[in-house]
Amino acid sequence: MPKRIDSLYLHFPFCSHLCNYCDFYKKIPQNKELDYQAYHSYLEKSFESHKNLIESSGYSWAPLKTLYIGGGTPSMWGSEGKKFLENFFKEKNITLDQDCEFTLEVNPGAWTDEVIKDWRSFGANRFSLGIQSLDPQMIKYLDRVHSIKDVFDTLEYFKYNDLNFSVDFMLGLPYSNQLNRSVINELKKTFEFNPSHFSVYILTVKDNYIYYASLPDEEWIEREFLDVSKFLKDKGFIHYEVSNFSKPGKQSQHNLNYWKSKSVAALGPSATGLLSDDRIRYKWKPNKPEIETEILTEAEFQLEKIYMAIRSEEGIKISDFPDDFKKVLSQWKLRNLATEKNNIVRLTSKGYLIVDSLINDLFTFKLL
Ligand SMILES: C[S@@+](CC[C@H](N)C(=O)[O-])C[C@H]1O[C@@H](n2cnc3c(N)ncnc32)[C@H](O)[C@@H]1O
Ligand code: SF4
Repeated sequence: MPKRIDSLYLHFPFCSHLCNYCDFYKKIPQNKELDYQAYHSYLEKSFESHKNLIESSGYSWAPLKTLYIGGGTPSMWGSEGKKFLENFFKEKNITLDQDCEFTLEVNPGAWTDEVIKDWRSFGANRFSLGIQSLDPQMIKYLDRVHSIKDVFDTLEYFKYNDLNFSVDFMLGLPYSNQLNRSVINELKKTFEFNPSHFSVYILTVKDNYIYYASLPDEEWIEREFLDVSKFLKDKGFIHYEVSNFSKPGKQSQHNLNYWKSKSVAALGPSATGLLSDDRIRYKWKPNKPEIETEILTEAEFQLEKIYMAIRSEEGIKISDFPDDFKKVLSQWKLRNLATEKNNIVRLTSKGYLIVDSLINDLFTFKLL
């Protein structure tokens, strides 16, 4: 059976400003023209190493069913980026399936009508908007470079053009008597713009974070997370992964590939890919187009598959576990952490919140 790759993540590593909480690989271009040229050359060179990697393992490209351009701030790549990538794919014989889910991350204030039109003409049909908060004060605390007007202009544009889009929000943000954000009111407001999907991340920072002392405690964050989850589910959204909610049928197909441990190729500094038939995980070095590969053992891969599947509506099969699992499961069900249907165990919102400790349960019972 031929081994085919039909899913690609592309990392665009530039931002116009570095937000104080962000740990992703990114940099500010010093000279846009030269830095983008260097990035393009990185992609060209890494494609050759990638070709060697996949061909030596017997893989070939199939028309892409999912393409995700993440960052960094990919909308900054602009029309020039679209032109580059279109040629790049043409030269490399990479095509998009007619139903390809093609996502582009967009930052408020870092796009134009022309740029969005260009990417749409190339096939982009899903946009992920980095909103984080609709509270003007919070936007400042988060050190975002755009204004609240940029945020609303962006939402307005995507609504007006009837585009399929997701919004990113963050929870567990700095808190004080003066600074008391209502994320539910923010979500209510966002609904006026008709997003099909929400990604909701709990802020994760180190203890040297500038507002570390103002971060709310765990209990507070848990309540906020469960309030958000209830609100979105009451609006008809499905809580289909720890941090993700969608209208029915609007789940991110690209991210589902990760949660199902399917092959997803990756290009761009710091991007990580998986060739699942051979259990090969690889990561691109940030500063040179070189790859670091790791071959997981069968046991490691099985563990990882469970670890990923339990985090999403994919769920885990009872029959994959020894009988002792039934004891663990009945505890989980009693505590409203999981449900069971047709041999599949899926976590509830409460379960997603403590997914790591539930995975620990599996270890404690020597089920993993
Ligand atoms: C890598 S960012 C790229 C998106 C885009 N550049 C932006 O800023 O909106 C993807 C998402 O990760 C989330 N994120 C970034 N840093 C985070 C952190 N320290 N803790 C939790 N979520 C974070 C934000 O919600 C962000 O939208
Ligand atoms: S714009 Fe996005 S990727 Fe860039 S620093 Fe801010 S959060 Fe990180």
